[in-house]
Amino acid sequence: MASNLLQYSSWPSNQYETRTAIAYAILAAAAISVVHYSVTLALYNATPKKVPPKSPPLLPHFLPLIGSFPWKYFTDPIRFFTTGYLSLVRHPIRVRLLGHDFYIIQGSDHVLSHLSQTSTSNTIFNANFLRQACGMSDKAVDRLGSESEETPKYFELKKYLAAAPLYAWSSSVIHRYLAGRGAHKLSQRFEANLRDRIRTYQEAAVGDGIVLSNFQDFFTEHVTAALLDSMCGTGLLAKNPGVTQAFWIFCDSLPTYMKHTPRILAPKAYKAREEVIAAVQVWQTWASENFDADTTPLDEDGDDPFWGSKFFRERFSTFVFEMGFDPRDMASMEVGFLFGASANVTANTYWCVIDVFRDHKLLNDIRAEVRDSTLREKGAARLDINVLVQQPILQAVFAESLRLRCHVMFIRKTTQPTTIVDWLIPKDRFLIAWSTPGHMDSKLWSHSNDVHPVDTFWPGRFLKYTSDSERPTFSLPGTEGSWLPFGYGANLCPGRQFAKVHCLVTLALMVGEFECDILASSKDLKLDLSKFGIGVLGPSGTISARLRKRDDRG
Ligand code: HEM
Repeated sequence: MASNLLQYSSWPSNQYETRTAIAYAILAAAAISVVHYSVTLALYNATPKKVPPKSPPLLPHFLPLIGSFPWKYFTDPIRFFTTGYLSLVRHPIRVRLLGHDFYIIQGSDHVLSHLSQTSTSNTIFNANFLRQACGMSDKAVDRLGSESEETPKYFELKKYLAAAPLYAWSSSVIHRYLAGRGAHKLSQRFEANLRDRIRTYQEAAVGDGIVLSNFQDFFTEHVTAALLDSMCGTGLLAKNPGVTQAFWIFCDSLPTYMKHTPRILAPKAYKAREEVIAAVQVWQTWASENFDADTTPLDEDGDDPFWGSKFFRERFSTFVFEMGFDPRDMASMEVGFLFGASANVTANTYWCVIDVFRDHKLLNDIRAEVRDSTLREKGAARLDINVLVQQPILQAVFAESLRLRCHVMFIRKTTQPTTIVDWLIPKDRFLIAWSTPGHMDSKLWSHSNDVHPVDTFWPGRFLKYTSDSERPTFSLPGTEGSWLPFGYGANLCPGRQFAKVHCLVTLALMVGEFECDILASSKDLKLDLSKFGIGVLGPSGTISARLRKRDDRG
Protein backbone atom coordinates (compact mmCIF):
# COMPACT_ATOMS: atom_id res chain seq x y z
CA MET A 1 0.00 0.00 0.00
CA ALA A 2 2.79 2.39 1.03
CA SER A 3 4.71 1.55 -2.10
CA ASN A 4 1.56 2.17 -4.18
CA LEU A 5 1.18 5.58 -2.58
CA LEU A 6 4.82 6.29 -3.30
CA GLN A 7 4.26 5.31 -6.90
CA TYR A 8 1.25 7.61 -7.23
CA SER A 9 3.00 10.50 -5.53
CA SER A 10 6.07 10.20 -7.83
CA TRP A 11 3.97 9.80 -11.02
CA PRO A 12 3.62 13.50 -11.94
CA SER A 13 7.34 14.17 -11.62
CA ASN A 14 8.17 10.99 -13.69
CA GLN A 15 5.81 12.18 -16.37
CA TYR A 16 7.42 15.62 -16.30
CA GLU A 17 10.89 14.10 -16.67
CA THR A 18 9.75 11.89 -19.54
CA ARG A 19 8.23 14.84 -21.35
CA THR A 20 11.37 16.91 -20.80
CA ALA A 21 13.52 14.06 -22.12
CA ILE A 22 11.32 13.75 -25.23
CA ALA A 23 11.47 17.51 -25.80
CA TYR A 24 15.29 17.44 -25.55
CA ALA A 25 15.43 14.48 -27.93
CA ILE A 26 13.27 16.30 -30.49
CA LEU A 27 15.35 19.45 -30.15
CA ALA A 28 18.56 17.47 -30.52
CA ALA A 29 17.22 15.66 -33.61
CA ALA A 30 16.08 18.97 -35.13
CA ALA A 31 19.47 20.55 -34.40
CA ILE A 32 21.31 17.58 -35.95
CA SER A 33 19.01 17.74 -39.01
CA VAL A 34 19.56 21.46 -39.47
CA VAL A 35 23.33 21.13 -39.04
CA HIS A 36 23.35 18.13 -41.38
CA TYR A 37 21.33 20.03 -43.95
CA SER A 38 23.61 23.08 -43.68
CA VAL A 39 26.71 20.92 -44.15
CA THR A 40 25.28 19.05 -47.15
CA LEU A 41 24.05 22.35 -48.62
CA ALA A 42 27.48 23.92 -48.20
CA LEU A 43 29.09 20.89 -49.85
CA TYR A 44 26.52 21.01 -52.66
CA ASN A 45 27.29 24.67 -53.32
CA ALA A 46 31.03 24.10 -52.98
CA THR A 47 31.06 21.34 -55.64
CA PRO A 48 32.73 22.83 -58.71
CA LYS A 49 30.13 22.95 -61.47
CA LYS A 50 32.35 24.52 -64.09
CA VAL A 51 35.55 22.50 -64.52
CA PRO A 52 35.12 19.13 -66.22
CA PRO A 53 35.13 16.30 -65.41
CA LYS A 54 32.73 17.29 -62.67
CA SER A 55 31.34 15.12 -59.95
CA PRO A 56 27.57 15.32 -59.46
CA PRO A 57 26.94 17.07 -56.13
CA LEU A 58 25.07 15.34 -53.33
CA LEU A 59 21.57 16.72 -52.86
CA PRO A 60 21.29 18.53 -49.49
CA HIS A 61 19.14 16.61 -47.01
CA PHE A 62 18.09 16.86 -43.39
CA LEU A 63 18.16 13.29 -42.10
CA PRO A 64 21.65 11.76 -41.84
CA LEU A 65 20.63 8.07 -41.98
CA ILE A 66 17.52 8.26 -44.10
CA GLY A 67 18.85 10.77 -46.63
CA SER A 68 16.53 12.46 -49.13
CA PHE A 69 13.13 10.87 -48.96
CA PRO A 70 11.10 12.11 -51.94
CA TRP A 71 7.59 11.96 -50.43
CA LYS A 72 6.06 13.94 -53.22
CA TYR A 73 7.36 11.48 -55.80
CA PHE A 74 5.13 8.84 -54.27
CA THR A 75 2.04 11.03 -53.92
CA ASP A 76 2.13 13.16 -57.09
CA PRO A 77 5.17 12.30 -59.22
CA ILE A 78 4.32 14.64 -62.10
CA ARG A 79 4.12 17.64 -59.76
CA PHE A 80 7.32 16.41 -58.13
CA PHE A 81 9.13 16.84 -61.46
CA THR A 82 7.38 20.02 -62.55
CA THR A 83 7.25 22.08 -59.36
CA GLY A 84 9.59 20.38 -56.87
CA TYR A 85 13.29 21.09 -56.39
CA LEU A 86 14.25 18.72 -59.23
CA SER A 87 12.46 20.98 -61.75
CA LEU A 88 15.19 23.57 -61.11
CA VAL A 89 18.13 21.21 -61.58
CA ARG A 90 19.40 20.75 -65.14
CA HIS A 91 22.47 18.65 -64.46
CA PRO A 92 23.25 15.26 -62.86
CA ILE A 93 23.01 15.14 -59.08
CA ARG A 94 23.57 12.49 -56.43
CA VAL A 95 20.75 11.54 -54.11
CA ARG A 96 21.34 9.55 -50.93
CA LEU A 97 18.57 7.23 -49.80
CA LEU A 98 18.93 4.78 -46.90
CA GLY A 99 22.70 4.77 -47.23
CA HIS A 100 22.77 4.24 -51.01
CA ASP A 101 23.74 6.87 -53.56
CA PHE A 102 21.83 7.17 -56.85
CA TYR A 103 22.71 9.47 -59.72
CA ILE A 104 19.72 11.37 -61.05
CA ILE A 105 20.26 12.55 -64.59
CA GLN A 106 18.54 15.85 -65.35
CA GLY A 107 18.62 18.13 -68.40
CA SER A 108 17.82 16.90 -71.93
CA ASP A 109 21.43 16.79 -73.19
CA HIS A 110 22.49 14.77 -70.14
CA VAL A 111 19.52 12.41 -70.53
CA LEU A 112 20.43 11.81 -74.19
CA SER A 113 24.04 11.16 -73.25
CA HIS A 114 22.90 8.77 -70.49
CA LEU A 115 20.68 6.78 -72.88
CA SER A 116 23.34 6.69 -75.58
CA GLN A 117 25.89 4.94 -73.37
CA THR A 118 26.78 1.45 -74.48
CA SER A 119 28.80 0.61 -71.40
CA THR A 120 25.94 0.98 -68.91
CA SER A 121 23.80 -2.05 -68.22
CA ASN A 122 20.12 -2.68 -67.61
CA THR A 123 20.63 -6.37 -66.91
CA ILE A 124 19.52 -6.03 -63.29
CA PHE A 125 16.22 -4.59 -64.43
CA ASN A 126 15.75 -7.32 -67.09
CA ALA A 127 16.59 -10.05 -64.59
CA ASN A 128 14.17 -8.67 -62.00
CA PHE A 129 11.45 -8.32 -64.60
CA LEU A 130 11.84 -11.91 -65.78
CA ARG A 131 12.05 -13.31 -62.26
CA GLN A 132 9.49 -11.17 -60.45
CA ALA A 133 6.95 -10.39 -63.12
CA CYS A 134 7.25 -13.30 -65.54
CA GLY A 135 7.88 -16.04 -62.97
CA MET A 136 11.07 -17.33 -64.60
CA SER A 137 13.16 -19.69 -62.45
CA ASP A 138 16.33 -18.41 -60.79
CA LYS A 139 18.36 -20.95 -62.73
CA ALA A 140 17.15 -19.66 -66.11
CA VAL A 141 17.55 -16.00 -65.09
CA ASP A 142 21.11 -16.74 -63.97
CA ARG A 143 21.92 -18.45 -67.26
CA LEU A 144 20.62 -15.49 -69.23
CA GLY A 145 22.82 -13.14 -67.20
CA SER A 146 25.89 -15.36 -67.30
CA GLU A 147 28.97 -14.16 -69.19
CA SER A 148 30.06 -17.75 -69.84
CA GLU A 149 26.98 -18.83 -71.85
CA GLU A 150 27.52 -19.28 -75.56
CA THR A 151 25.24 -17.89 -78.24
CA PRO A 152 24.27 -19.96 -81.29
CA LYS A 153 27.14 -20.42 -83.71
CA TYR A 154 25.51 -18.39 -86.50
CA PHE A 155 25.23 -15.35 -84.24
CA GLU A 156 28.22 -13.12 -84.42
CA LEU A 157 28.29 -11.55 -80.99
CA LYS A 158 29.02 -7.86 -81.33
CA LYS A 159 29.57 -6.33 -77.94
CA TYR A 160 27.60 -3.23 -78.77
CA LEU A 161 25.85 -3.29 -75.40
CA ALA A 162 26.95 -4.10 -71.86
CA ALA A 163 24.75 -7.20 -71.87
CA ALA A 164 25.53 -10.87 -71.26
CA PRO A 165 25.74 -13.00 -74.45
CA LEU A 166 22.23 -14.49 -74.27
CA TYR A 167 20.59 -11.13 -73.59
CA ALA A 168 22.53 -9.59 -76.47
CA TRP A 169 21.49 -12.40 -78.80
CA SER A 170 17.83 -12.32 -77.72
CA SER A 171 17.75 -8.56 -78.17
CA SER A 172 19.24 -8.74 -81.67
CA VAL A 173 16.69 -11.41 -82.71
CA ILE A 174 13.86 -9.18 -81.45
CA HIS A 175 15.22 -6.18 -83.36
CA ARG A 176 15.40 -8.26 -86.55
CA TYR A 177 11.83 -9.52 -86.11
CA LEU A 178 10.43 -6.02 -85.64
CA ALA A 179 12.33 -4.35 -88.47
CA GLY A 180 11.83 -4.21 -92.23
CA ARG A 181 9.74 -6.80 -93.99
CA GLY A 182 8.87 -8.75 -90.83
CA ALA A 183 7.30 -5.65 -89.30
CA HIS A 184 5.42 -4.91 -92.52
CA LYS A 185 3.93 -8.40 -92.59
CA LEU A 186 3.04 -8.16 -88.91
CA SER A 187 1.26 -4.87 -89.59
CA GLN A 188 -0.74 -6.38 -92.45
CA ARG A 189 -1.76 -9.38 -90.37
CA PHE A 190 -2.80 -7.09 -87.53
CA GLU A 191 -4.97 -4.96 -89.82
CA ALA A 192 -6.68 -7.96 -91.44
CA ASN A 193 -7.30 -9.60 -88.08
CA LEU A 194 -8.65 -6.50 -86.39
CA ARG A 195 -10.82 -5.62 -89.40
CA ASP A 196 -12.47 -9.07 -89.21
CA ARG A 197 -13.07 -8.76 -85.47
CA ILE A 198 -14.48 -5.24 -85.78
CA ARG A 199 -16.80 -6.26 -88.64
CA THR A 200 -18.17 -9.14 -86.55
CA TYR A 201 -18.65 -6.87 -83.56
CA GLN A 202 -20.22 -4.16 -85.69
CA GLU A 203 -23.14 -6.40 -86.67
CA ALA A 204 -24.31 -6.32 -83.04
CA ALA A 205 -23.83 -2.57 -82.71
CA VAL A 206 -26.72 -1.51 -84.97
CA GLY A 207 -29.61 0.77 -83.96
CA ASP A 208 -28.81 2.45 -80.65
CA GLY A 209 -25.58 0.50 -80.48
CA ILE A 210 -23.96 -1.22 -77.52
CA VAL A 211 -23.15 0.46 -74.22
CA LEU A 212 -19.91 -0.85 -72.75
CA SER A 213 -19.66 -0.21 -69.03
CA ASN A 214 -15.90 -0.49 -69.38
CA PHE A 215 -14.67 0.59 -72.81
CA GLN A 216 -11.30 -0.96 -72.07
CA ASP A 217 -12.89 -4.42 -72.36
CA PHE A 218 -13.27 -3.80 -76.09
CA PHE A 219 -9.52 -3.31 -76.35
CA THR A 220 -8.69 -6.28 -74.15
CA GLU A 221 -11.01 -8.64 -75.98
CA HIS A 222 -10.66 -7.51 -79.58
CA VAL A 223 -7.60 -5.32 -80.10
CA THR A 224 -5.29 -7.42 -77.88
CA ALA A 225 -6.68 -10.59 -79.42
CA ALA A 226 -5.92 -9.26 -82.92
CA LEU A 227 -2.41 -8.38 -81.81
CA LEU A 228 -1.74 -11.81 -80.26
CA ASP A 229 -3.13 -13.59 -83.32
CA SER A 230 -1.02 -11.52 -85.66
CA MET A 231 2.16 -12.31 -83.70
CA CYS A 232 1.66 -15.88 -82.48
CA GLY A 233 -0.72 -17.24 -85.14
CA THR A 234 -4.19 -18.33 -84.11
CA GLY A 235 -2.91 -21.25 -82.00
CA LEU A 236 -2.35 -19.31 -78.78
CA LEU A 237 -5.93 -18.07 -78.45
CA ALA A 238 -7.55 -21.12 -80.09
CA LYS A 239 -5.87 -23.40 -77.55
CA ASN A 240 -6.60 -21.02 -74.66
CA PRO A 241 -9.90 -19.22 -75.26
CA GLY A 242 -10.44 -16.33 -72.87
CA VAL A 243 -6.76 -15.94 -71.99
CA THR A 244 -6.83 -12.28 -73.10
CA GLN A 245 -8.64 -11.39 -69.84
CA ALA A 246 -5.93 -13.05 -67.75
CA PHE A 247 -3.29 -11.48 -69.99
CA TRP A 248 -4.66 -8.00 -69.32
CA ILE A 249 -4.79 -8.61 -65.55
CA PHE A 250 -1.17 -9.75 -65.83
CA CYS A 251 -0.15 -6.59 -67.74
CA ASP A 252 -2.01 -4.41 -65.27
CA SER A 253 -0.36 -6.05 -62.26
CA LEU A 254 3.27 -5.33 -63.10
CA PRO A 255 3.85 -3.10 -60.02
CA THR A 256 2.37 -5.85 -57.81
CA TYR A 257 4.96 -8.35 -59.02
CA MET A 258 7.87 -5.90 -59.05
CA LYS A 259 7.16 -4.79 -55.48
CA HIS A 260 7.34 -8.42 -54.28
CA THR A 261 3.74 -8.21 -53.05
CA PRO A 262 3.04 -11.50 -51.26
CA ARG A 263 0.82 -13.89 -53.17
CA ILE A 264 -1.72 -13.96 -50.38
CA LEU A 265 -2.36 -10.21 -50.81
CA ALA A 266 -2.77 -10.35 -54.59
CA PRO A 267 -4.16 -13.79 -55.48
CA LYS A 268 -5.88 -12.55 -58.66
CA ALA A 269 -2.66 -11.11 -60.07
CA TYR A 270 -0.63 -14.28 -59.42
CA LYS A 271 -3.40 -16.54 -60.70
CA ALA A 272 -3.57 -14.50 -63.92
CA ARG A 273 0.19 -14.78 -64.35
CA GLU A 274 0.13 -18.56 -63.95
CA GLU A 275 -2.76 -18.78 -66.41
CA VAL A 276 -0.88 -16.75 -69.03
CA ILE A 277 2.38 -18.68 -68.64
CA ALA A 278 0.48 -21.97 -68.86
CA ALA A 279 -1.37 -20.76 -71.97
CA VAL A 280 1.86 -19.84 -73.74
CA GLN A 281 3.38 -23.18 -72.80
CA VAL A 282 0.35 -25.09 -74.08
CA TRP A 283 0.54 -23.22 -77.39
CA GLN A 284 4.30 -23.74 -77.76
CA THR A 285 4.11 -27.43 -76.92
CA TRP A 286 1.31 -27.89 -79.46
CA ALA A 287 3.22 -25.91 -82.09
CA SER A 288 6.46 -27.84 -81.58
CA GLU A 289 4.61 -31.17 -81.75
CA ASN A 290 2.77 -30.25 -84.94
CA PHE A 291 5.41 -28.34 -86.85
CA ASP A 292 7.40 -30.60 -89.13
CA ALA A 293 10.41 -29.04 -90.82
CA ASP A 294 9.96 -31.37 -93.84
CA THR A 295 6.24 -31.06 -94.44
CA THR A 296 4.83 -27.91 -92.81
CA PRO A 297 4.29 -25.26 -95.49
CA LEU A 298 6.19 -22.01 -94.92
CA ASP A 299 5.36 -18.69 -96.55
CA GLU A 300 7.98 -16.71 -98.44
CA ASP A 301 9.29 -15.26 -95.15
CA GLY A 302 9.58 -18.61 -93.43
CA ASP A 303 6.52 -18.13 -91.20
CA ASP A 304 4.23 -21.09 -90.51
CA PRO A 305 0.68 -21.45 -89.19
CA PHE A 306 1.60 -23.20 -85.90
CA TRP A 307 4.14 -20.72 -84.56
CA GLY A 308 2.69 -17.69 -86.33
CA SER A 309 6.19 -16.53 -87.15
CA LYS A 310 9.69 -17.82 -87.67
CA PHE A 311 10.71 -15.61 -84.72
CA PHE A 312 8.92 -17.68 -82.04
CA ARG A 313 9.78 -20.99 -83.74
CA GLU A 314 13.50 -20.27 -83.90
CA ARG A 315 13.73 -18.84 -80.41
CA PHE A 316 12.04 -21.93 -79.00
CA SER A 317 14.22 -24.25 -81.01
CA THR A 318 17.43 -22.54 -79.89
CA PHE A 319 16.61 -21.99 -76.23
CA VAL A 320 14.77 -25.27 -75.56
CA PHE A 321 16.17 -27.84 -78.02
CA GLU A 322 19.73 -26.55 -78.39
CA MET A 323 20.44 -24.96 -75.00
CA GLY A 324 18.19 -27.09 -72.82
CA PHE A 325 16.10 -24.32 -71.25
CA ASP A 326 12.92 -25.60 -69.59
CA PRO A 327 9.81 -24.98 -71.78
CA ARG A 328 8.14 -23.28 -68.81
CA ASP A 329 11.01 -20.79 -68.57
CA MET A 330 10.72 -20.27 -72.31
CA ALA A 331 7.02 -19.51 -71.82
CA SER A 332 7.96 -16.97 -69.11
CA MET A 333 10.37 -15.31 -71.50
CA GLU A 334 7.73 -15.04 -74.24
CA VAL A 335 5.17 -13.74 -71.74
CA GLY A 336 7.70 -10.97 -71.00
CA PHE A 337 8.03 -10.22 -74.71
CA LEU A 338 4.25 -10.21 -75.21
CA PHE A 339 3.92 -7.84 -72.24
CA GLY A 340 6.36 -5.43 -73.93
CA ALA A 341 4.49 -5.79 -77.19
CA SER A 342 1.03 -5.12 -75.72
CA ALA A 343 0.87 -3.17 -72.47
CA ASN A 344 2.03 0.30 -73.53
CA VAL A 345 0.72 0.11 -77.04
CA THR A 346 -2.78 -0.88 -75.96
CA ALA A 347 -2.95 1.82 -73.28
CA ASN A 348 -1.84 4.51 -75.74
CA THR A 349 -4.21 3.33 -78.46
CA TYR A 350 -7.07 3.33 -75.95
CA TRP A 351 -6.33 6.97 -75.07
CA CYS A 352 -6.07 8.04 -78.72
CA VAL A 353 -9.46 6.52 -79.53
CA ILE A 354 -11.02 8.29 -76.53
CA ASP A 355 -9.40 11.64 -77.43
CA VAL A 356 -10.50 11.53 -81.05
CA PHE A 357 -14.11 10.54 -80.36
CA ARG A 358 -14.43 13.31 -77.75
CA ASP A 359 -13.53 16.07 -80.21
CA HIS A 360 -15.78 16.43 -83.28
CA LYS A 361 -13.45 18.65 -85.25
CA LEU A 362 -10.53 16.30 -84.62
CA LEU A 363 -12.73 13.31 -85.50
CA ASN A 364 -13.64 14.86 -88.86
CA ASP A 365 -9.99 15.66 -89.63
CA ILE A 366 -8.94 12.13 -88.75
CA ARG A 367 -11.72 10.63 -90.86
CA ALA A 368 -10.52 12.69 -93.82
CA GLU A 369 -6.95 11.39 -93.35
CA VAL A 370 -8.21 7.81 -93.06
CA ARG A 371 -10.18 8.23 -96.31
CA ASP A 372 -7.01 9.43 -98.01
CA SER A 373 -5.19 6.33 -96.77
CA THR A 374 -7.78 3.76 -97.85
CA LEU A 375 -7.48 1.62 -100.97
CA ARG A 376 -10.34 -0.27 -102.58
CA GLU A 377 -9.49 -3.61 -104.07
CA LYS A 378 -12.21 -5.74 -105.65
CA GLY A 379 -14.83 -3.83 -103.65
CA ALA A 380 -13.05 -4.42 -100.33
CA ALA A 381 -11.37 -1.65 -98.35
CA ARG A 382 -7.76 -1.92 -97.21
CA LEU A 383 -5.54 0.62 -95.51
CA ASP A 384 -2.39 1.74 -97.23
CA ILE A 385 -0.34 1.57 -94.06
CA ASN A 386 2.63 3.43 -95.53
CA VAL A 387 0.36 6.39 -96.33
CA LEU A 388 -1.57 6.13 -93.06
CA VAL A 389 1.52 6.43 -90.86
CA GLN A 390 2.60 9.58 -92.71
CA GLN A 391 -0.67 11.45 -92.12
CA PRO A 392 0.14 14.56 -90.05
CA ILE A 393 -2.84 14.78 -87.71
CA LEU A 394 -2.86 11.05 -86.98
CA GLN A 395 0.85 11.24 -86.16
CA ALA A 396 0.28 14.28 -83.96
CA VAL A 397 -2.46 12.50 -81.99
CA PHE A 398 -0.14 9.52 -81.45
CA ALA A 399 2.83 11.68 -80.41
CA GLU A 400 0.83 13.99 -78.15
CA SER A 401 -0.83 11.13 -76.32
CA LEU A 402 2.59 9.60 -75.63
CA ARG A 403 4.00 12.94 -74.49
CA LEU A 404 1.20 13.41 -72.00
CA ARG A 405 0.77 9.87 -70.71
CA CYS A 406 4.02 7.96 -71.22
CA HIS A 407 6.18 8.31 -68.11
CA VAL A 408 9.20 6.02 -68.22
CA MET A 409 12.02 5.61 -65.74
CA PHE A 410 15.37 4.65 -67.32
CA ILE A 411 17.66 2.83 -64.89
CA ARG A 412 21.19 1.75 -65.76
CA LYS A 413 24.26 0.61 -63.86
CA THR A 414 27.70 1.81 -64.86
CA THR A 415 30.15 -0.99 -65.68
CA GLN A 416 33.10 1.45 -65.90
CA PRO A 417 33.67 5.14 -65.10
CA THR A 418 31.23 6.91 -67.39
CA THR A 419 31.11 10.46 -68.70
CA ILE A 420 27.73 12.11 -69.09
CA VAL A 421 28.57 15.20 -71.17
CA ASP A 422 31.19 16.59 -68.77
CA TRP A 423 30.11 14.87 -65.56
CA LEU A 424 31.97 11.82 -64.35
CA ILE A 425 30.10 8.90 -62.77
CA PRO A 426 32.18 6.17 -61.09
CA LYS A 427 31.91 2.45 -61.85
CA ASP A 428 29.07 0.32 -60.39
CA ARG A 429 26.65 3.19 -59.73
CA PHE A 430 22.98 3.44 -60.56
CA LEU A 431 21.91 6.17 -62.97
CA ILE A 432 18.24 7.10 -63.21
CA ALA A 433 16.45 9.41 -65.63
CA TRP A 434 12.75 9.91 -66.37
CA SER A 435 10.92 10.95 -69.52
CA THR A 436 8.64 13.15 -67.38
CA PRO A 437 10.72 16.36 -66.97
CA GLY A 438 11.07 16.62 -70.78
CA HIS A 439 7.49 15.60 -71.55
CA MET A 440 6.08 18.12 -69.08
CA ASP A 441 8.44 21.02 -69.79
CA SER A 442 6.02 23.92 -70.22
CA LYS A 443 8.71 26.20 -71.67
CA LEU A 444 9.11 23.81 -74.57
CA TRP A 445 5.58 22.54 -75.15
CA SER A 446 3.29 25.35 -74.08
CA HIS A 447 2.85 28.52 -76.07
CA SER A 448 3.67 31.74 -74.27
CA ASN A 449 -0.03 32.57 -73.85
CA ASP A 450 -0.54 29.10 -72.33
CA VAL A 451 -3.84 28.50 -74.14
CA HIS A 452 -2.95 24.82 -74.25
CA PRO A 453 -1.26 24.06 -70.93
CA VAL A 454 1.32 21.32 -70.95
CA ASP A 455 -0.88 18.97 -68.93
CA THR A 456 -3.68 18.98 -71.52
CA PHE A 457 -4.06 16.95 -74.71
CA TRP A 458 -3.42 19.15 -77.77
CA PRO A 459 -2.06 17.52 -80.95
CA GLY A 460 -1.42 21.01 -82.39
CA ARG A 461 1.91 20.98 -80.52
CA PHE A 462 3.21 18.63 -83.19
CA LEU A 463 1.72 20.39 -86.23
CA LYS A 464 3.17 23.15 -88.34
CA TYR A 465 0.99 25.23 -90.65
CA THR A 466 2.66 27.10 -93.49
CA SER A 467 0.90 30.00 -95.13
CA ASP A 468 0.83 28.43 -98.60
CA SER A 469 -0.82 25.23 -97.50
CA GLU A 470 -4.05 24.38 -95.70
CA ARG A 471 -2.65 21.04 -94.66
CA PRO A 472 -0.33 20.99 -91.68
CA THR A 473 2.87 18.99 -91.50
CA PHE A 474 3.89 16.81 -88.60
CA SER A 475 6.95 18.13 -86.83
CA LEU A 476 9.06 17.23 -83.82
CA PRO A 477 11.59 20.09 -83.95
CA GLY A 478 13.69 21.02 -80.97
CA THR A 479 12.29 18.19 -78.89
CA GLU A 480 15.36 15.93 -78.82
CA GLY A 481 15.71 14.63 -75.30
CA SER A 482 12.28 15.96 -74.37
CA TRP A 483 10.13 13.42 -76.22
CA LEU A 484 11.33 10.00 -75.11
CA PRO A 485 8.42 7.56 -74.93
CA PHE A 486 10.54 4.90 -76.65
CA GLY A 487 13.83 5.76 -75.01
CA TYR A 488 16.83 6.71 -77.10
CA GLY A 489 20.16 5.37 -78.28
CA ALA A 490 21.48 2.02 -77.26
CA ASN A 491 18.25 0.51 -75.89
CA LEU A 492 15.73 2.32 -78.09
CA CYS A 493 12.44 0.37 -78.23
CA PRO A 494 12.52 -2.03 -81.20
CA GLY A 495 8.70 -2.00 -81.41
CA ARG A 496 8.28 1.76 -81.93
CA GLN A 497 7.34 1.55 -85.63
CA PHE A 498 4.86 -1.22 -85.00
CA ALA A 499 3.46 0.71 -82.02
CA LYS A 500 2.58 3.55 -84.37
CA VAL A 501 1.01 1.17 -86.87
CA HIS A 502 -0.99 -0.54 -84.12
CA CYS A 503 -2.35 2.77 -82.85
CA LEU A 504 -3.13 4.35 -86.21
CA VAL A 505 -4.65 1.22 -87.75
CA THR A 506 -6.90 0.72 -84.71
CA LEU A 507 -7.89 4.37 -84.74
CA ALA A 508 -8.57 4.26 -88.50
CA LEU A 509 -10.78 1.18 -88.24
CA MET A 510 -12.65 2.50 -85.21
CA VAL A 511 -13.45 5.93 -86.69
CA GLY A 512 -14.29 4.31 -90.02
CA GLU A 513 -16.68 1.70 -88.68
CA PHE A 514 -18.22 3.25 -85.54
CA GLU A 515 -19.78 6.27 -83.99
CA CYS A 516 -18.78 6.37 -80.36
CA ASP A 517 -19.96 8.41 -77.38
CA ILE A 518 -17.44 8.51 -74.57
CA LEU A 519 -19.47 8.50 -71.36
CA ALA A 520 -16.92 9.71 -68.84
CA SER A 521 -16.39 12.65 -66.54
CA SER A 522 -13.16 14.64 -66.71
CA LYS A 523 -12.27 13.18 -63.30
CA ASP A 524 -12.34 9.66 -64.78
CA LEU A 525 -10.02 10.85 -67.53
CA LYS A 526 -7.24 11.94 -65.17
CA LEU A 527 -4.10 9.82 -65.20
CA ASP A 528 -3.83 6.87 -62.86
CA LEU A 529 -0.45 7.62 -61.31
CA SER A 530 -0.15 4.33 -59.45
CA LYS A 531 1.99 2.87 -62.26
CA PHE A 532 4.12 5.93 -62.76
CA GLY A 533 7.50 5.16 -64.31
CA ILE A 534 6.70 2.00 -66.26
CA GLY A 535 5.23 3.49 -69.42
CA VAL A 536 1.84 4.67 -70.63
CA LEU A 537 -0.49 5.38 -67.71
CA GLY A 538 -4.18 4.51 -67.98
CA PRO A 539 -7.17 6.63 -66.95
CA SER A 540 -7.97 6.79 -63.23
CA GLY A 541 -11.66 5.97 -63.70
CA THR A 542 -13.62 3.35 -65.59
CA ILE A 543 -14.68 4.79 -68.94
CA SER A 544 -18.04 3.75 -70.38
CA ALA A 545 -18.82 4.21 -74.05
CA ARG A 546 -21.62 3.65 -76.54
CA LEU A 547 -20.50 2.13 -79.83
CA ARG A 548 -22.81 2.34 -82.85
CA LYS A 549 -22.31 0.96 -86.32
CA ARG A 550 -21.59 3.87 -88.63
CA ASP A 551 -23.95 4.27 -91.56
CA ASP A 552 -22.89 7.58 -93.06
CA ARG A 553 -19.56 7.32 -94.88
CA GLY A 554 -19.67 10.93 -96.04
C1 HEM B 1 3.44 2.91 -77.18
C2 HEM B 1 4.06 1.77 -77.15
C3 HEM B 1 5.43 1.49 -76.61
C4 HEM B 1 6.20 2.20 -75.73
C5 HEM B 1 5.85 3.52 -75.05
C6 HEM B 1 7.44 1.47 -75.55
C7 HEM B 1 8.49 1.91 -74.75
C8 HEM B 1 9.66 1.20 -74.58
C9 HEM B 1 10.77 1.66 -73.78
C10 HEM B 1 10.82 2.98 -73.05
C11 HEM B 1 11.72 0.69 -73.82
C12 HEM B 1 13.03 0.65 -73.06
C13 HEM B 1 14.02 1.63 -73.56
C14 HEM B 1 15.19 1.74 -72.62
O1 HEM B 1 15.32 1.01 -71.63
O2 HEM B 1 16.00 2.59 -72.89
C15 HEM B 1 11.22 -0.39 -74.62
C16 HEM B 1 11.89 -1.56 -74.85
C17 HEM B 1 11.35 -2.61 -75.55
N1 HEM B 1 10.18 -2.61 -76.26
FE1 HEM B 1 8.85 -1.08 -76.39
N2 HEM B 1 7.39 0.33 -76.29
C18 HEM B 1 6.19 0.30 -76.96
C19 HEM B 1 5.78 -0.66 -77.84
C20 HEM B 1 6.44 -1.82 -78.11
C21 HEM B 1 5.98 -2.84 -79.01
C22 HEM B 1 4.70 -2.75 -79.85
C23 HEM B 1 6.88 -3.85 -78.95
C24 HEM B 1 6.90 -5.16 -79.70
C25 HEM B 1 6.13 -5.47 -80.70
C26 HEM B 1 7.91 -3.47 -78.01
C27 HEM B 1 8.98 -4.25 -77.66
C28 HEM B 1 10.01 -3.84 -76.83
C29 HEM B 1 11.13 -4.69 -76.47
C30 HEM B 1 11.33 -6.15 -76.89
C31 HEM B 1 11.99 -3.92 -75.67
C32 HEM B 1 13.31 -4.36 -75.04
C33 HEM B 1 14.37 -4.23 -76.08
C34 HEM B 1 15.70 -4.80 -75.69
O3 HEM B 1 15.92 -5.10 -74.53
O4 HEM B 1 16.52 -4.90 -76.58
N3 HEM B 1 7.60 -2.23 -77.53
N4 HEM B 1 9.97 -0.05 -75.10
